Amino acid sequence: MSTLTIRRPDDWHLHLRDGAALHAVLPFTAAQFARAIVMPNLKPPVATTAQALAYRQRILEALPGGVRFEPLMTLYLTDRTDPAEVDRAKASRLVHGFKLYPAGATTHSDAGVTDIGKVGAVLARMAELGVILQVHGEVTDPAVDVFDREARFIGEVLVPVVEKFPQLRVVFEHITTRLAAEFVRRARPGVAATITPQHLLMNRNALFTGGIRPHHYCLPVLKTEPDRCALLEAVASGNPRFFLGTDSAPHARHTKEAACGCAGIFSAHAAIELYAEAFEAAGALGKLQGFASEHGATFYGLPYNEGTITLTKESWDVPATYRFGSEELVPLRAGERMPWRIAQSGNTNERR
Ligand code: DOR
Ligand code: ZN
Repeated sequence: MSTLTIRRPDDWHLHLRDGAALHAVLPFTAAQFARAIVMPNLKPPVATTAQALAYRQRILEALPGGVRFEPLMTLYLTDRTDPAEVDRAKASRLVHGFKLYPAGATTHSDAGVTDIGKVGAVLARMAELGVILQVHGEVTDPAVDVFDREARFIGEVLVPVVEKFPQLRVVFEHITTRLAAEFVRRARPGVAATITPQHLLMNRNALFTGGIRPHHYCLPVLKTEPDRCALLEAVASGNPRFFLGTDSAPHARHTKEAACGCAGIFSAHAAIELYAEAFEAAGALGKLQGFASEHGATFYGLPYNEGTITLTKESWDVPATYRFGSEELVPLRAGERMPWRIAQSGNTNERR
């Protein structure tokens, strides 16, 4: 197959940051995706509906002229989140979920939840109103091996939450393991997962190929080859519980190439092309449209996008860096060749 046309896709897990960083990265996502769930881990976090609506406005103002893109907002859950905030979020119609960051699990998660027992009343209200819980699924106990944190989270937190709140709709974000894919496949209705391009295309060896590779470091960290294969099988199966979430997470070059480098992989410059490569390798290009453009919308109760995006099998070279405000950003596959490219993306008003 040398061209592939699918319905316009959405990114159900994205970090856009704010200010100059937002201006630098937003055009990449808006060139490919019609909508994206925008993660709330700013400093300070986006923890109220009012803050989310103001952030949404800043995103809309940062869009290049004539580009259509809809930011879908989510709130940062804290130990102190008021259950009434769930009502305000729902009433806004612009906030679609709450993100659970276990405190200390990842970038800007220090304001996160220290004990899941502290947010029981909020989760109960979310279940009642049909507001979605998005979960960063890793335990934070420093005694637990970093490669085991997702597996431990499933047993210790996710299974009890899913059982205690049977109506709660849950997205297990950026799953990385065979165990997580298996859990989602077998879970009760109302449980789904996003999968990133890096976890479909790389295993943990990519962190150490020829030396330490900070631009392949993200959280949850890359896992084993059998885990990667299990994720590929999950997406190739066409199961609607699995959908696209890039977790594209830009950090300035010097903060990654450092003695203590930040977690996060920037993939927005080539997101749909990276997924096409993974699906092609799995012999499942026919399943890309469901994963990228349909399953997430169905889970979130939103309409499918109109229009299409067309990819062609035509190589292009990823730049070594992109501008990131006054800094530089090193994208995934920097300086390497990509086999698929976008021929038409239908993202501008003029094209409709
Ligand atoms: O690698 C990551 N980067 N994982 C996360 O959970 C957060 C993200 C970020 O915000 O940089
Ligand atoms: Zn993320």
